Amino acid sequence: MRRVKADLLVMGASQVVTVAPPPGTPAGPRSGKAMREVGVIPGGAVAARAGRIVAVGEETEVRGRVDLEPGARVVDAEGGTVLPGLIDPHTHALFAGWRADEFRLRLRGVPYLEILAAGGGILSTVRATRAASAGELARLLEGRLAAMLLCGVTTVEVKSGYGLSWPEEHKLLSVMAQVARSQPVEIVPTFLGAHAVPEEYKGNADGYVEHIVRVMLPEVARQGLARFVDVFCDEGVFDLDQTRHLLSAARKLGLGVRLHADELASLGGAELAAELGAASADHLLRSRPEGWRRMAQAGVVAVLLPGTALFLGKPYAPARDMIGAGVAVALATDFNPGTCPIASLPLVMGLACVGMGMEPEEVVVAVTANAALAVGRPDLGTLEVGKQADLVIFGVPGYEHIPYRMGGAPVSWVVKKGKVVVERGRLLESP
Ligand code: NIG
Ligand code: FE
Repeated sequence: MRRVKADLLVMGASQVVTVAPPPGTPAGPRSGKAMREVGVIPGGAVAARAGRIVAVGEETEVRGRVDLEPGARVVDAEGGTVLPGLIDPHTHALFAGWRADEFRLRLRGVPYLEILAAGGGILSTVRATRAASAGELARLLEGRLAAMLLCGVTTVEVKSGYGLSWPEEHKLLSVMAQVARSQPVEIVPTFLGAHAVPEEYKGNADGYVEHIVRVMLPEVARQGLARFVDVFCDEGVFDLDQTRHLLSAARKLGLGVRLHADELASLGGAELAAELGAASADHLLRSRPEGWRRMAQAGVVAVLLPGTALFLGKPYAPARDMIGAGVAVALATDFNPGTCPIASLPLVMGLACVGMGMEPEEVVVAVTANAALAVGRPDLGTLEVGKQADLVIFGVPGYEHIPYRMGGAPVSWVVKKGKVVVERGRLLESP
């Protein structure tokens, strides 16, 4: 076999979990039995050059195949487990202010939507976020992404949605673009102008949706500020018709679409996601079998957020039934100040096993290969030749330790685009 040059070699692993699809697996998000195939190479190694993977296999085979360039980096995994860099496909990580007061109210039994209807909830975060400068918000986001990186997460979808006017939403999307350049975690920006009806449009959700369609969406598309458009489609927020109208307009502008579907009430968001060819439908706590069937047919990824169900004290999404119905499942934190302050994707992996009965293999696929497709990045999520060299080394002897230790599995190294960004558990300042 032809030898290849490499500037990075990862060796000394107890296992390399490639998450490569077994031969014959249909292209697209992985469902059914294909969610249990994680492609373990015991004693494996990975080599990369210029940010792309050039060889994966058993260590002797990889060493025999690559020529290390002068100055190449050799990372000794010291018996750890190598996985593709984890992908968090649903977060609201860009906000100012926390809502501990609301936490107390909810503990006393006040419902989430009642707090929102009274001008709190999302709207209180909107007030705090509007009051924060772009610089303050950038520092907050950088700190949160650094914490996520230390959990092994190399790509994060971040939604706007705490601005709710064009200048304020623009501020948030611009901060994302700036932070995408200032630190190593890749951001997938999503425009969530339809996160709540702002005070200025109180009682006039239709008017606000029209403002988004006519003013905000064309600017988002023209300035290339977001890859996806999302809507909080739920009882007391945006209904099915408003969501369809807004997301159809987004699609016409060439933007990808996704939605918060059937989280608090069964409105038929899952079915709408299938109708629109959305990349994902997220939450789905109250989704129905007909919705799963249509999502499976349309190849829509179900992004499940067990941290949110836990924090809201609601029953978990029926992941087992969805997987049984052929739906491709991904997992995300939903990190936000109202419904899920958990930022650790490995902890969410543990919750998915314990709370939703997912298998360790399924949760691995859910935060790698399927999460990559949920955010429109087929070049991420597996360790295969030609893919972007994003990988994480956990200091554990096997991948099942990651959900098992409920967020406590140590991350020893992280590589982003072929560069070491976390070294022996420490974030490098300027990789
Ligand atoms: O995914 N559901 C809508 N948005 C968030 C909550 C945001 C907030 O409460 O600030 C969610 O749960
Ligand atoms: Fe959310």
